[in-house]
Amino acid sequence: MTRKFYITTPIYYVNAHPHIGHAYTTIACDTIARRQRLLGAETFFLTGTDEHGQKIERAAQAAGKTPQQYADTISAEFRQLWKRMGISNDDFIRTTEDRHKRRVQALFRKLRDDGYIYKGTYTGQYCVSCEAYIDGAQPGDPCPTCGRITETVREDNYFFKLSTFQERLLALYANPEFIRPEARRNEVISFVRSGLRDLSISRSTFTWGIPVPDDPKHVIYVWLDALANYITAIGYGSSHPGAQEAFKKFWPADVQMIGKEIVRFHCVYWPAFLMAAGLEVPKTIGAHGWLLFEESKMSKSRGNIVRTETILDVLGADALRYFLLREVVFGQDGSFSFDALVQRYNSDLANGLGNLASRTLTMINRYFRGEVPYPSRGASKTGADDAVAEAARKTIREFGALFDQFQFSRALETAWALVAAVDKYIVENEPWALGERQDEDSRSRLATVLYTAAEALRIVTALAYPVMPEATAKIWSQLGLGDIKKLALSELAWGQLPLGTKLGEVQPVFPRADKSAIERMQKMEEEQKGAMLTEAPAAAPVLTSVPQTAPAAVPAVSAAGEKISIDDFAKIELRVGLVKVAERVPKADKLLRLEVDIGTETRQVLAGIAEAYAPETLIGRKVVIVANLAPRKLRGMESNGMIVAASLEDGKPVLAGFLEDVPVGARLK
Ligand code: MSP
Repeated sequence: MTRKFYITTPIYYVNAHPHIGHAYTTIACDTIARRQRLLGAETFFLTGTDEHGQKIERAAQAAGKTPQQYADTISAEFRQLWKRMGISNDDFIRTTEDRHKRRVQALFRKLRDDGYIYKGTYTGQYCVSCEAYIDGAQPGDPCPTCGRITETVREDNYFFKLSTFQERLLALYANPEFIRPEARRNEVISFVRSGLRDLSISRSTFTWGIPVPDDPKHVIYVWLDALANYITAIGYGSSHPGAQEAFKKFWPADVQMIGKEIVRFHCVYWPAFLMAAGLEVPKTIGAHGWLLFEESKMSKSRGNIVRTETILDVLGADALRYFLLREVVFGQDGSFSFDALVQRYNSDLANGLGNLASRTLTMINRYFRGEVPYPSRGASKTGADDAVAEAARKTIREFGALFDQFQFSRALETAWALVAAVDKYIVENEPWALGERQDEDSRSRLATVLYTAAEALRIVTALAYPVMPEATAKIWSQLGLGDIKKLALSELAWGQLPLGTKLGEVQPVFPRADKSAIERMQKMEEEQKGAMLTEAPAAAPVLTSVPQTAPAAVPAVSAAGEKISIDDFAKIELRVGLVKVAERVPKADKLLRLEVDIGTETRQVLAGIAEAYAPETLIGRKVVIVANLAPRKLRGMESNGMIVAASLEDGKPVLAGFLEDVPVGARLK
């Protein structure tokens, strides 16, 4: 019976354009999927987009679009990009598709019917960016994962009985295969050991989500909705026999690949939901680290993203795929730079594999009229030939073992050690000198050397195929071997290169990149950033590890009479904000602590307006906020923006506002 293999990426939020951080997860999965197909498994590779929730609703609002329009645009960007990158996914699920919505509702019903869901009231902090409830946080606390200020949520919700799964989850983690790498597993174990609280799994203060069955005032919590994609895409909850069969065949997933910041959702909530639904849990969750750029996690809000398209335009998809898997040690964070990318490309691909292919195949063309020569079995065979064969056999074994442990970087290192060994072998055996001689011994020695080099090239090419599908397919056909996708990888062994094979047309596969490639990519990125800055409304600036802060709210009177240019004014980012929470600051008579929704995120602002406004009168009011003011700390709390007010003669502030209704997040200019 054919072995099946089911692998998933997380589904990507549609609030941000795709960047190479997203590409990293997808490439890792694509590589695994391609290897599994060559190993003969019936493989299903799933990716898609995560389109519901408050974060998307707000991003759409700030962009002046409906959430559906907004999601349509960005989801299409992901889909097109994966196509351009040669990603071989078998399905692309969108959480706004009907098939998904119906099946999520079926899951919710099942959990409710089986007694795992009850109604209650949630009061606590919520991080909209992570779409996560933050246990134990106080109003004004930042999210421990992303650093943004959490929002206070008080609403009637449905709860999932997560607390009853503590022991079963701990028993699950006893299996070391469930969470990889080990360090992440230990974190999850200590989190679960410290006690689990029931989880709110619906929201009722906004509408962009899947309605709770029979109670449409609530929408299903976006993480329950999103996690379920892994089963809805392959047919869970469908009454269609074909879909049911697919589900039976592919579930449980063999590998679910994720980034480290979403481990809790995948390793705690997800298996608990599955257990409650009476389903098996995935076999392995693999958590990778982050791609850093300019020393912090690449992300839209930090404004430090690198677009995948830039690299595809200049060096091609295979260069990026190879670089990310070779350079980043799986499980750890890794830095991206254009310099490192081009350096790696030149050393390992242009001068490494590319050079090995072109010099070997060119010499076979020149000296053997383009036919793979017969190696000598007689006296002209040396220990060096056997050493290459032995090194290749070892590489096949080690590469597979490392790869299957997600140690892509070490696996590639092993394969490239073989490339280096063959290069050395070629230099030491001087085939070009042998080719100048006509005696039989030299001819026979030349045949052996070029056969050995070509066979080693074939083996490295076969191993590297899942990582660089396009380039290796070209080398394969230059070797005269046809379609690389037909390769039976499990049978790969030394000595299979058919003698006398007629080579295909030999062409360079990795042309050398010069310094201008780096400059070109940097320029393309700068131009793109410039274009994004003029996009209206722009993304709200940044919270790095520490949230931004700003002073209390009272306006400054500008230096009288001094004129400023329109460019000076344009530097001030004024936005419409909606006050979500307002409360007094203990022991500070003048200060109020506000949580202000500015469309793309919610800011904590400390405002000196407590003597003029009672906090409860501000909730739901639209205000004007200076959104790009440098951060400040007041009374030990972060203030992140400034509320604009007129200052009366007695010093009393009067908040600026609007006579007409204005969308939250709109820019004033
Ligand atoms: N929508 C959720 C996942 C739901 S799965 C049921 C989400 N989306 S995301 O778009 O923010 O992230 C998707 C994947 O991209 C995650 O695995 C995340 O770790 C990865 N990356 C996003 N930025 C990244 C880097 N800078 N570096 C490496 N991977 C990163 O989370």
